[in-house]
Amino acid sequence: MKTVGMVGWRGMVGSVLLERMIAERDFEHLEAVFFSGSQVGQPGPQIHSERRPAPLLDAHCIADLAQMDIILSCQGSAYTRAVRPQLAAAGWDGYWIDAASELRMREDAAIALDPVNRALLERALESGVKNYIGGNCTVSLMLLGLGGLFCGGAVDWASAMTYQAASGAGAAAMREMLAQMGALHDAVAADLSNPAAAVLHIDRRLADCQRSADFPQSEFGAPLAGSLLPWIDGEMPGGQSREEWKAAAETNRILGLTGERRIAVDGLCVRVATMRCHAQALCIKLRRALPLEDIEAMLAAQNPWVEVVPNNRTASLAGLSPAAVSGGLRIAVGRLRKLQMGPEYLAAFTLGDQLLWGAAEPLRRLLGILMRR
Ligand code: HSE
Repeated sequence: MKTVGMVGWRGMVGSVLLERMIAERDFEHLEAVFFSGSQVGQPGPQIHSERRPAPLLDAHCIADLAQMDIILSCQGSAYTRAVRPQLAAAGWDGYWIDAASELRMREDAAIALDPVNRALLERALESGVKNYIGGNCTVSLMLLGLGGLFCGGAVDWASAMTYQAASGAGAAAMREMLAQMGALHDAVAADLSNPAAAVLHIDRRLADCQRSADFPQSEFGAPLAGSLLPWIDGEMPGGQSREEWKAAAETNRILGLTGERRIAVDGLCVRVATMRCHAQALCIKLRRALPLEDIEAMLAAQNPWVEVVPNNRTASLAGLSPAAVSGGLRIAVGRLRKLQMGPEYLAAFTLGDQLLWGAAEPLRRLLGILMRR
């Protein structure tokens, strides 16, 4: 049985990963060893009901880490930067699976999204690549939803305008968003319970609350609740945000497209006040004017998690929202219609859970692929 060192399992993505691994009984097929940066020696999580959890090992002890066949880290880029080179220097030859972006674009790494790029991952494994990194959540969710078109070579270019949830900014950000919502409600609660209060008066109070010095915004740096944030991550040359830059960089890397085969993907990335479900509206220029029925069939057939939502009001409101999709593995794709620009221009709206398919699930599945080798 292979030994798998689990690092960063207590954080938000790590917790979702652990839940999924327990639900899928993954721990029956591997020997998990739990590491910690801060609670060394304390008992690890209760995975097997018949066994007492072993004490946590030190996540910075290279000698202990080097005993593992596989290390799965949800700890973040700083940890990867600190530890991965030390393991290499110690001659460790195991597999490194990572939720952080640090190694994503390196030549000796591949982005794990097996429902979309299984063949590329198999080639990487055959050629001895040892680093498998989870993709940017927005890109992974777009490719899972629209893989039927992207993998089939049907896309000339795509513009993705995103509606990204607070979870992409971390657990503290999710809490802050809810605190903001609470502060806004508190500011107008008395007026709301008074049917005679004018809504424009309520609106002014809300705006005053959002702009007040004590409005909680240390995570986002601006109000998200009752507002939105049209910039995610750092600044790149050319006016792109780093999140926007990843769209083309990672899409092509996941699909293994280089040179003239690369697909242009660009758009604006926006944070909205949802909890854990990233959505995006796409304008896709197809290479040829495929009929809508063929497009729907291609999308539905690409992977078992895609659900094509009929393009009508009732179905869209019921099944194509964060409220409907959040917390599950379903990837909803809808609003599929040809745009007025011409029969090669397709509109689509897709969304999926940022913590599941956007983060934990591709890593869990990559681990499964390694287990079965
Ligand atoms: N960068 C993403 C976001 C999450 O901020 O929503 C990680 O892929």
